[in-house]
Amino acid sequence: MKTIGNILHITASPRADASFSQNFSKRIVERLLARDPGAVVVRRDFGVIGLPHVDETYGHTLAGSWPMAADAYERPGSLAQSERLICELEAADAVVIGTPMHNYTVPSVLKAWIDHVLRAHRSFGFSPEGKVGLLADRPVYIAVASGGGYTGEGTLQPDFLTPYLEAVFRTIGIRDLHFFPLQRTVAGAEAVAEALRGVEALLDRKLPMPTLTPLPEPMPLAAA
Ligand SMILES: Cc1cc2nc3c(=O)[nH]c(=O)nc-3n(C[C@H](O)[C@H](O)[C@H](O)COP(=O)(O)O)c2cc1C
Repeated sequence: MKTIGNILHITASPRADASFSQNFSKRIVERLLARDPGAVVVRRDFGVIGLPHVDETYGHTLAGSWPMAADAYERPGSLAQSERLICELEAADAVVIGTPMHNYTVPSVLKAWIDHVLRAHRSFGFSPEGKVGLLADRPVYIAVASGGGYTGEGTLQPDFLTPYLEAVFRTIGIRDLHFFPLQRTVAGAEAVAEALRGVEALLDRKLPMPTLTPLPEPMPLAAA
């Protein structure tokens, strides 16, 4: 695996420290740091601090109804915000996302981030075959907490979150996605413990702890 210099860590739960997805996404970041201790982490807790939706200028410019002003990125508003967020993503060698499932998909604050980051002619372009991603691929680790189950046998609800995030990242050229489903968080302590065991095992498989190289034996002193 390539050395990681920059990690972008995004969380989308409003529950801050009580959040399963936030806490497990921190475990993923810790593991990446164990493997690349020099990596710099940029953390964005959007679930707590919020993120404004795209605004009128952004909407009109993207719809082609307004030509993009030369100074559009310098003006306050969501085009400048979009540019900052895309630059942050471009600078990241790895992305870690902690998100709850809200009504079968991502919370609206993560959707707002997606609306800023998937920008036509900037993060994706067009070809006769469809949209073409303009960003380099990189690993994205996604911890998903859900109150009920959404994968495997006996699940009683649809999962729009996983295929949606796959389509979103594919649009901008990112395909190396790794999901960590932390399911049934409202089903009691035993269900939570089982879910945590499952994602920890997945973490060990996907990002094994680095083995420390033993220090060499000290050289014996040369006889005087
Ligand atoms: C607005 C809202 C919608 C939710 N929708 C779902 C859902 O569709 N499916 C589900 O399994 N759990 C749903 N939940 C439960 C959360 O996914 C669950 O509590 C999860 O642990 C929250 O993530 P967090 O612990 O990272 O905050 C919903 C919770 C909220 C607040």
